[in-house]
Amino acid sequence: MADAVRFWNRISKRYAASPVADEAAYRRKLAETQARFQPDWTVLEMGCGTGNTAIAHAGHVAQVHATDFSEKMLDHGRERAAREGVTNVTFDCKSVAEIGTDIQYDAVLMLSLLHLVPDWRAALDKAWALTRPGGIFVSSTVCADSVPWIARVVLRLGAPLGLLPRVTAFDADALVNEIAARGFEIEERWKPGKGKALFVIARRPASGAAKKAASGAKPRDRSS
Ligand SMILES: C[S@@+](CC[C@H](N)C(=O)[O-])C[C@H]1O[C@@H](n2cnc3c(N)ncnc32)[C@H](O)[C@@H]1O
Repeated sequence: MADAVRFWNRISKRYAASPVADEAAYRRKLAETQARFQPDWTVLEMGCGTGNTAIAHAGHVAQVHATDFSEKMLDHGRERAAREGVTNVTFDCKSVAEIGTDIQYDAVLMLSLLHLVPDWRAALDKAWALTRPGGIFVSSTVCADSVPWIARVVLRLGAPLGLLPRVTAFDADALVNEIAARGFEIEERWKPGKGKALFVIARRPASGAAKKAASGAKPRDRSS
């Protein structure tokens, strides 16, 4: 994990300066999410990076709690929020594992994150625990077909050396099954095209217990 934190700290400046890869898809994901928000909602974003999405959502809800394990990524978000006078986003340096489950949120976001979390099953369990009944879980996840073969080779070589993050190669169907297996109802499933991340909006039913985790889906860790 220390390697991963170092990696994201190291690239934070470049990440903050780089444009969104697919602006139209990003806008649609924001709109689909915001269409479900209520003005009094409290949102948790895990792995918020430089905070662009947290800040984009800030005007649509009461509060956004934006978390990431890279202090340098968060610094960019803090600076931008201050520059733009956004006061209802808090930035908190925490890994997914460090986030407690004592508070539940109206919406929980994991965007471009799940494929980077080695214990992604525990992360999904946490997303379930953190979403209040009736609330939504929103994810955007790189899947196996989103990564060109040459990038896969580079990732495979770079991850053991601590130069690049470990990436789980998800199958889109298997991932949707895993989300549903927690008890979420899938409201939106969208892949803007081959090679694009899988976007899912899932709702925790207003009542009802969690289901058992899916048994069949076995995404592979490309770096192991
Ligand atoms: C690809 S960036 C995505 C950032 C942002 N969600 C976005 O869509 O632009 C992944 C982010 O997740 C963070 N991250 C990776 N693994 C994490 C973990 N286990 N806990 C918390 N943050 C993590 C990284 O520091 C980085 O900021």
